[in-house]
Amino acid sequence: MVTCMMNEKIQEALNEQLNAEIYSSYLYLSMSAYFQGTDLAGFANWMRVQAREELMHAMKFYDYINERGGRVKLKEIAAPQLEWESPQAAFEHVYSHEQKVTNLINDLVNLAISEKDHATNNFLQWFVTEQVEEEASANGILQKIKIIGGEGSGLFMLDQELGQRVFTPPTTSAEK
Ligand code: FEO
Repeated sequence: MVTCMMNEKIQEALNEQLNAEIYSSYLYLSMSAYFQGTDLAGFANWMRVQAREELMHAMKFYDYINERGGRVKLKEIAAPQLEWESPQAAFEHVYSHEQKVTNLINDLVNLAISEKDHATNNFLQWFVTEQVEEEASANGILQKIKIIGGEGSGLFMLDQELGQRVFTPPTTSAEK
């Protein structure tokens, strides 16, 4: 029998975040399907890569819970929204969603500190940094959409740009 090195509260909170990361993946995959349906293949590609990144985030929680002798408990994943009014509306949603995720990560860090779980605090710092990037990239694309007015040749060019994004598989175990 593996001994759990985390307290119950931490274990439960990490399992909740594992679920939240899978939900993020589900949400972005749903956005990818939406963009596919609007013939914006580049936007669809960007969202599909984002969905894979979120699954990678989820697996980091999965592996960490196991590493600390905890028990992964997979929970129900809520159905994501299916349609958005426009590319701008979708990216406003991405940006606000990432801000919510940042708050969840910050709450987790606060919990790790109050429970004096330094290992978990250290593990979470990767996500603290990642969230800065996540918010910046979502907001960056949102601002571009606003500048081009969300249509015409500007939208076409942005679609081309977002079509270039590729998923970079983790290269080291620490990057899983
Ligand atoms: Fe897993 Fe987009 O943060």
